[in-house]
Amino acid sequence: MIIAVDGPTASGKGTIAMALAAHFSLPHLDTGLLYRAVGLQCALNGGNPDDPQDALTACDFPDHLIADPELRSEATGGLASRVSVHPEVRAALYDLQRVFATQPGGAVLDGRDIGTVIAPEAEVKLFITASVPARAQRRYDEMRAAGRPVSLAEIAADLEARDARDSSRAAAPLIAAPDALVLDTSTAGREEAIAEAIRAVELLLQ
Ligand code: C5P
Repeated sequence: MIIAVDGPTASGKGTIAMALAAHFSLPHLDTGLLYRAVGLQCALNGGNPDDPQDALTACDFPDHLIADPELRSEATGGLASRVSVHPEVRAALYDLQRVFATQPGGAVLDGRDIGTVIAPEAEVKLFITASVPARAQRRYDEMRAAGRPVSLAEIAADLEARDARDSSRAAAPLIAAPDALVLDTSTAGREEAIAEAIRAVELLLQ
């Protein structure tokens, strides 16, 4: 069984994907980490994330980069959003995601285009969303807890810029698959959102 979990930044999709993977005993891939690694590697190379060739060169990042704490920063999220517009980059990361999705026994993947491009045949497609203020507050709390100084207004502006870039790009834009179930987590707490997602998947599988 493939479970595709898509949605914008800080919508709760990562938390929900991880919880679904644990509940259904499936392996989980956070595909945002791959784009973040490409963005960070591009910066480390001194490249320009808006240049398709520099971004493609950065797809050849070392495995250990996936564990680098810098990968989780807002700055790296912005770089990821810029390298991810290039079809060359998306093509270079396709096989790895596709192999993970189609492994025997199934998998949970979260990202932006799992239900539309990586695994359009997924048995379960969820599109997790939430309002910008709710997402900004969540990201602000996460960053503060991680000891990263940030302002709420800056985070909200960054989220809106990233949403606009992710939704308007030509290659695999952020969009709910027509057969995805949309869950809005704006007013739900963590446990409530997880419980609702598990319930939704169980209903879809009946
Ligand atoms: O989900 P996360 O915030 O870690 O993703 C960082 C960026 O990577 C997103 O803003 C998006 O531009 C890009 N991304 C993507 N396709 C995916 C996952 C992430 O384009 N499947």
